Amino acid sequence: MTVVVLPGDGIGPEVMREALRALEIVAPDLELEEHPFGAQAIRLTGDSLPEKTLAACKASEAVLKGPIGDPEFDAAEVRPEQGMLRLRAELDVYANLRPSKQGQVDILIVRELVGGLYFGARGVREDGTVYDTMEYRPDQVERIARRAFELARGRRRKVVSVDKANVLETSRMWRRVVTEVAAGYSDVELEHMLVDNAAMQLVLATGQFDVLVTENMFGDILSDLAASLTGGIGLAPSASLSDSGPGLFEPVHGSAPDIAGQGVANPMAMMLSTALMLEHGLNRPEDAGRLRAAAWTTHEAGEGLGTAAFGDAVLQALS
Ligand code: IPM
Ligand code: MG
Repeated sequence: MTVVVLPGDGIGPEVMREALRALEIVAPDLELEEHPFGAQAIRLTGDSLPEKTLAACKASEAVLKGPIGDPEFDAAEVRPEQGMLRLRAELDVYANLRPSKQGQVDILIVRELVGGLYFGARGVREDGTVYDTMEYRPDQVERIARRAFELARGRRRKVVSVDKANVLETSRMWRRVVTEVAAGYSDVELEHMLVDNAAMQLVLATGQFDVLVTENMFGDILSDLAASLTGGIGLAPSASLSDSGPGLFEPVHGSAPDIAGQGVANPMAMMLSTALMLEHGLNRPEDAGRLRAAAWTTHEAGEGLGTAAFGDAVLQALS
């Protein structure tokens, strides 16, 4: 089994190093293949997602990715984030699972990842107007809704579908299609919620949520909010899945250039993303459980540990 490793930018290589040390212990038979991606790849090749990297990802069993992004390219023509959106689209990893769990809170955000506002037509008109558009085909909504209901069956059987149906045409179609899909899952409860209300409800009445399914940008925003409710974005992992090809596993947080290279970044989200890869990408739930348990034990005991010391403690917990 080959796993493609994309260490990424900023704190990416540091947190990836610790995740890989742990991975090599729980799954020593995996073949790891490292490739450039993001700002690192722009410097090397001029492209944030070089052809070779993309080909390796497509041929792999799973892709483990660190955060990308570098302020050096914020205003540039070629930016690391473009490669990231392209990689998601090329792998067709439309189902982005972002779990938030701690204490009473146990939420799974299912974010549509290859459509919506981040993939609609955009541009600049002659008069200087700039536009981005939100577009969805019904089949894109149907497949993400189906995923959400399937996942809810393994949990508390409640789906909240988040949209802005009082304003947006795409949301009205989204609501209609999700309702149609729900008819095939009479054992799962469905509620529709407007996105602004959902943001408030997540803060004020967190316990009502089990699975939350939503459009690409709504999910981007709400998943940061949900992460903040459960120990912060430093703990938030994600899995992005297609119907058949390799999945993509990455932390929700960014490359944190302000603390890069200092050895203080928390590798927890990267480790939990690695556990999600073992579970959802490679069908190795026992290995995933082992890694996850060691990471949480370390997290609970190891307040204030630096990156490498955290990794050492995880290795110790695994031995
Ligand atoms: C995330 C990130 C990305 C996204 C950015 C870096 C393009 O915020 O994974 O949540 O919006 O998808
Ligand atoms: Mg985000």
